[in-house]
Amino acid sequence: MIPQNSAASPLPAGQPANDPMVAFQAVTKTFGDPKSQTSFTALGGVDYIVPRGSISGIIGRSGAGKSTLIRLVNGLELPSTGKVIVDGVDVGALEQSGLRDLRRSVGMIFQHFNLLSSRTAFDNVALPLEIAGLSKSEIRQKVAPLLDLVGLGDKASRYPAELSGGQKQRVGIARALATEPKLLLSDEATSALDPETTQSILELLKTINAELGLTVLLITHEMEVVKTIASQVAVIDKGLIVEQGTTFDIFTNPRHETTRSLLSSAVGVKLPHWVTSGLKAEATDGDRVLVRLVFFGNTAFQPLTARLVAEIGPDVNILAGTIEEISGQPFGSLVVSYPATPEITARAAHFYAETGLTTEVLGYVA
Ligand SMILES: Nc1ncnc2c1ncn2[C@@H]1O[C@H](COP(=O)(O)OP(=O)(O)O)[C@@H](O)[C@H]1O
Ligand SMILES: [Mg+2]
Repeated sequence: MIPQNSAASPLPAGQPANDPMVAFQAVTKTFGDPKSQTSFTALGGVDYIVPRGSISGIIGRSGAGKSTLIRLVNGLELPSTGKVIVDGVDVGALEQSGLRDLRRSVGMIFQHFNLLSSRTAFDNVALPLEIAGLSKSEIRQKVAPLLDLVGLGDKASRYPAELSGGQKQRVGIARALATEPKLLLSDEATSALDPETTQSILELLKTINAELGLTVLLITHEMEVVKTIASQVAVIDKGLIVEQGTTFDIFTNPRHETTRSLLSSAVGVKLPHWVTSGLKAEATDGDRVLVRLVFFGNTAFQPLTARLVAEIGPDVNILAGTIEEISGQPFGSLVVSYPATPEITARAAHFYAETGLTTEVLGYVA
């Protein structure tokens, strides 16, 4: 078994869920001389808390400031103003030796794995332990279970060039865990991987979070990543957090324009082009209305559609529907159309009110 880190054991019962592992307090970061014309403000004042034991995500487009933000956590960058507090310690106030300790207690994984090509999988994982001054036998005792944990027990003597992308990232994860960190930072760790490999790496991160109680802070531009494993998420745009909350709330009810556009292709049904291209904002006589119905939890799909047809009438068309899982919770969406007559509209409204369905009129089609 992997050595247990007492500081990173799972949440004891009754521990407040918002006990912060990381707290960003009014953090700004400007590169270059702030008085110069060429200086650039990458972070404009970020407040964000990563609860201990959580998997928290930060999503945003390329250039939004994600990497800058995460590099503040292990002191690779220092804030221009504001504070970054990691497990109660102000990173900006640390001396060299304090920074060394911090980096040992914070593991990091990267998009391009950052393995040493001249070292085997075993020796890559061993590297941080060599730096920490452990003996050869101590290192062997730690590395073997780590390679087992990430599913590479039989690949110890392989070089990075002999491993697939997913296997390389598994080595990266084992190396990040070698010093028994309490926090794991992930900077686009699955962005170079295909969807299937991405899912298997996310499963591994979930397991590590659950079994070792490790807090995970991940930044990504991939909505699927957050949707699959993060319990809470913040959306960053041009160096500012524009929206934050539980992943389920943000994904099912995005409020900010940036969130909506980031999520548009990641959540809910995708309508075919021939439908969206013909949509009008106003109805004229004889038009059909297109409505998106959203349902949460375990509302069953089949009875719902059957009742819809029974209540509204045989003129209902079901155009698309999905049930997906967001942060472990079911979320369904259904797009239907029916004649936009006052009578049918009233029947539909009655049905929606009775069932508590959330609805959105997408537009009208001839
Ligand atoms: N060392 C640096 N010097 C100057 N500008 C930087 C530096 N690091 C990042 N930036 C700028 O800050 C912005 C945010 O970068 P980054 O945090 O890497 O974004 P993301 O990871 O979201 O793609 C970008 O415009 C980038 O060019
Ligand atoms: Mg980045």
